[in-house]
Amino acid sequence: MAAPRTDRTLDPALAALVADLPACELHVHLEGTLEPELLLELAARNGVELSTTTVEEVRVTHVFDSLASFLAVYYPAMEVLRTRRDFSDLATAYLTRAAAQNVRRAEVFFDPQAHTSRGVPFEVVVEGLLDAVERAPHELGVDAELVMCFLRDHPVASAEETLTASLPYADRIIGVGLDSDERNHPPADFAAVFARAREAGYQLTMHCDIDQEGTLEHLRQVIEDVQVDRIDHGSNVVDAPELLAVAVERGLGFTACPLSNGFVTEQMKAPEIVALLRAGAKVCVNGDDPAYFGGYLKENLAALAAAADLSAADVVQLARNGFEASWASPERIAEHLAEVDAVAAAHGVAAPRP
Ligand code: HPA
Ligand code: ZN
Repeated sequence: MAAPRTDRTLDPALAALVADLPACELHVHLEGTLEPELLLELAARNGVELSTTTVEEVRVTHVFDSLASFLAVYYPAMEVLRTRRDFSDLATAYLTRAAAQNVRRAEVFFDPQAHTSRGVPFEVVVEGLLDAVERAPHELGVDAELVMCFLRDHPVASAEETLTASLPYADRIIGVGLDSDERNHPPADFAAVFARAREAGYQLTMHCDIDQEGTLEHLRQVIEDVQVDRIDHGSNVVDAPELLAVAVERGLGFTACPLSNGFVTEQMKAPEIVALLRAGAKVCVNGDDPAYFGGYLKENLAALAAAADLSAADVVQLARNGFEASWASPERIAEHLAEVDAVAAAHGVAAPRP
C-alpha cells in the first residue's frame, strides 16, 4: 500500500504550532528508526551482504499492508546491527532527529531478543543504546529513557530470560513493553513475566495493535489483569465504553501512531484517536517505526491534524497528554507542561483550564 494520503493540507499557522510545540515521544521502536542510509552504512562497515544496494532499492522494499508484512521486512534489516557502536549510532541518529523536531523527552523501545536470537550479546545492545541515551540530555536537550520490549511471538521462557539478563541494568531501563505479532499471542500469556518486571521496578506497557483478532479481550487483559501503566496503540478501546471509562479514570496513556495505522490497516484511524481525545483519555501522537512508515512524531501529528481537522487547542492537548502519560517525575512533567503552554501562548493558544 502507498503511504496514507489526506486531501487536506494544514493551515500554515497550525503547521507552525505543530512544528514548534515541545513533544514527548512514547512509542518509537529504535530498530524502526533504521533509515536506509544508515542500513547501507552499517552493512558496509560490518561486511553484511544485503539484497539491496541503494537507498531507492531499500525504499522499494517498504511495501506493507499488515503488521505481519511489515515485520517480515523489519526483522531481516536488523542483521546489520552488530556492535556496541552500531547500536549507539542508531540511537544517536534517532535522538538527533527527535531533537530537531522539538522532542524534549523520548521513552524509546528496543527489542533485545531480535538481537540476542542472532548471537549479539544483550550487553552489547544495551550498552550501545545507553551510550547514546545517557548523552542525550546534555548534548541534545532530550531526556531519553529505554523501554525494553519482549517479542510476543517468541516463547514466554525467552521473555523470562531476557528479563533476567536486564536486571543488572534495572536502574537504567525505565520500563518493559510487549510487541511483535499479536495474532494468537494475547497479553495474558505474559502476565507472570510482567508481574516479575513490576517487582523489579519497571513501568509496564503493552501493544494492543489496531484491529487485531480479539483486540477487545486483549485490551481487557492489559487493563484489568496485567494492569499496565500505559497502552501502545489500543484505540479500539473506543468500542468498549466500560473499559474506556476505567482507562480515563486511571489516566492511562494511549500512544497513537496515525501513519503506521494507515499502513497496517486501511486508515490512520483518525476518528478513533479523536474519540479518545474527546473522552478525556491521555492519548498522544507518536512515531512508531518512522524509517518505514514515512514520518517521525511531528509528521504524524501534522497528518492527524489535517485528516481530523484538529483545532490548535486539540494539538496542544495532544502534546500535553504525551508528557502527562510519560514516566518522568511529576516535577519534570510540570516543567515540560509549562514549556508547552508557553509555546502555545506564543502562538496565541490559551492554556487549558486547570
Ligand atoms: N506493533 C507490533 N510490533 C512492532 C511494532 C508495532 O507497532 N513496531 C515494531 N514492532
Ligand atoms: Zn509499535
